[in-house]
Amino acid sequence: MKNFKKVLALVLALVMVLSFAACGGGSSSSSDAVVYKVGTEPTFPPFDTTDDAGNIVGFDMDLIAAIGEDQGFEVTFENLQFDSLIPAIQAGNIDIIAAGMNCENDERREQVDFSTPYYESGLVVAVAADNDTILGVDDLTPDMKVAAQIGTTGADAVTELAAEGKIKEAIILNGLDTAMLQLINGDVAAVINDLPVTKAYIEKQPDAIKIVGEVMNAEAYAIAVQKGNTELLEKINTGMANIQANGKFDEIYDKWFGEEA
Ligand code: ARG
Repeated sequence: MKNFKKVLALVLALVMVLSFAACGGGSSSSSDAVVYKVGTEPTFPPFDTTDDAGNIVGFDMDLIAAIGEDQGFEVTFENLQFDSLIPAIQAGNIDIIAAGMNCENDERREQVDFSTPYYESGLVVAVAADNDTILGVDDLTPDMKVAAQIGTTGADAVTELAAEGKIKEAIILNGLDTAMLQLINGDVAAVINDLPVTKAYIEKQPDAIKIVGEVMNAEAYAIAVQKGNTELLEKINTGMANIQANGKFDEIYDKWFGEEA
């Protein structure tokens, strides 16, 4: 019996050592759960936004929190400019990026590691609701200013249009809220941005903005970790698969997108 207790104590000690070793990175909270810092840019509803009290909330926040709950880690959110997210994770200032970030991008894939994708998206052109001359990207002309958010795929598209001389100027802004405001004020002729996010802005101001033309540049959103952090990446992928299987993912989806598919 004595020996049994000794063996039990040894096994318990080993389990503790192993579970600590498996934690790698992050810091410990009072409850001893690892806390990972999640960077985002919250002018991107319904994925990354703020509530009335200024807290960072959204589909991405619920998603990573649910993955953490499944995998035994906690999260805190950091508000960064979109083009600062990858540098911040490279510098080790944040552990995770959850920001509606497209993973089908070679440059980003060299800089960070991506989880399995969780949302299929694409870019669209938005114009003022009363604009009846721009019916799609081909109607943008060399006298027009077109806005997008810094560091995004939309910014790449707008910059390319400017380089090709198809528009007058690419207006690259820090926040999408500012881009949409400039559109409503008539400072820019169009905004190029992700479809579901532009839809969310339209829902807030249905008479001010509209989407024109086809969806361009298909993309897939994924969660990013520091390059080489396979341990955290595996937790995220396992947690993602688990919550997709047990209905939690669908619950979060319905919360932020309604029942529509
Ligand atoms: N999907 C686009 C990209 O990956 C835009 C993402 C912007 N996200 C944000 N949280 N502001 O470049």
